[in-house]
Formats: sequence, structure tokens, C-alpha cells
Amino acid sequence: MGYLVFYGHAAFEVGVNGKKILIDPWLTNPLSPVKPEEVKDVDLVILTHGHADHTGDAVTILKNNPKAKVVAVYELANHVAEQAGDPQRAVGGNMGGPMLVDGLKIALVPANHSSPVGAPTGVVIQSSEGTIYHAGDTGITSEMALIGEIYKPDIALLPIGGHFTMDPVEAAKAVELIKPKVVIPMHYGTFPVLYGKPEEFKKLVEEKVPGVEVVILKPGEKYEFKY
Ligand code: NI
Ligand code: MN
Repeated sequence: MGYLVFYGHAAFEVGVNGKKILIDPWLTNPLSPVKPEEVKDVDLVILTHGHADHTGDAVTILKNNPKAKVVAVYELANHVAEQAGDPQRAVGGNMGGPMLVDGLKIALVPANHSSPVGAPTGVVIQSSEGTIYHAGDTGITSEMALIGEIYKPDIALLPIGGHFTMDPVEAAKAVELIKPKVVIPMHYGTFPVLYGKPEEFKKLVEEKVPGVEVVILKPGEKYEFKY
């Protein structure tokens, strides 16, 4: 079985191919049930872009997990690995063909956003248990149809909070473009400015894209899968 654990905001732990992966590990976010110091045996830290609510505690986690590598767009991976004191642990790629990392295929994909270091991305992880698309921070973009067509994500993790990213209306349209089996909302409820509600998103998806399951995870909750 593969698994996901939601740590609030855009932070997820993903277990696939026997690897422990953290995506956008801002674990000092107000909703997170774990502290960055508590995270052990990490293989990969994947970052979608350089905003602090995503790179978050990556440096601490890399320092505490000496085998962990950081996977991100080239400039960001190098920047964070250098901050962690070990430039060799950067796996920097770019939008386009997947990278082969630890037996996984990891593709960085476009995100319609900004980033202080490198370009903003989403990420697609292809594994033996299934394919997961973490959209990062993004507005809706027609490129999501291509991401759906090429990678056929089983699970999509989509921001729904609005203000900096898609809100529930746009994210429901994104589900229509991506056509995943399961969608899990993220990037809501952390700050007052993020007004999008997961229940509203779920209702919209059920109306507009029947057949796609919406799974709302509480921070700390685990979701297991095998496709
Ligand atoms: Ni951002
Ligand atoms: Mn963000």
C-alpha cells in the first residue's frame, strides 16, 4: 500500500516504493500535528517553490536526516541543499521529462504562481502504488489538462484556499481538466485570508465531476491507496 499523511497547509508525507517523501514540509504551520525535529528516516524532500510556507522546515529536516535528498527546480534544490550545508544532496531538475530518483519517476510540472528562487512548479510522482500530483501553489491553468492526459494522476492534491491560489470554484474546474480518481484539497484554513472551504469544494466536484472522489483529510490523518 502507498500512503499519504496531511500535515496541514501544503505539507504531505508520501510513502511509495518503500520511500518516505515529504512534500512542501512547512511543519511549523499552525495546523501541523508534528514538529520538524520529530520527522525521521526521510528519503526525499520535494519542494514546489521557494515561498516560506512551502520550503518551510526543509533545511532543518535535511540536517536531521543525513540521507535525505532535496528534489526541486534546479535553483531551489541547490539553494536549499547549500543552506543545509550539503550541496551534494540537491536533485535539481526542471519542467519537462521526469527525473529518475530512487526508483521513482518525478516530474516537475507548470504552476501558475511566483517564486523567489527558481520557477514555481507542481510535482507528479509516479510509483508502483500509484501516481500522485501535488499542484503546489497555482491558479487554474489549461496545462492541467495535459498533466491529466500524460501522467493520469490517481490522486491530485489541489490548493483551494483562494487569494494566492485557486479557490473552490477554480479547483473544481481543475478537477474536470485533470480527471484524477481521488482529489484531496489543501492550502486552506491556515490563515484568515484563505477563505476557500473544503466542504464547498467537495460539493462543487460532486456536482460538476461526478465519479471523482473528494477526500478531506484532517491534519495528521493518513490515507492509504493502491492502484
Ligand atoms: Ni506560494
Ligand atoms: Mn503557499
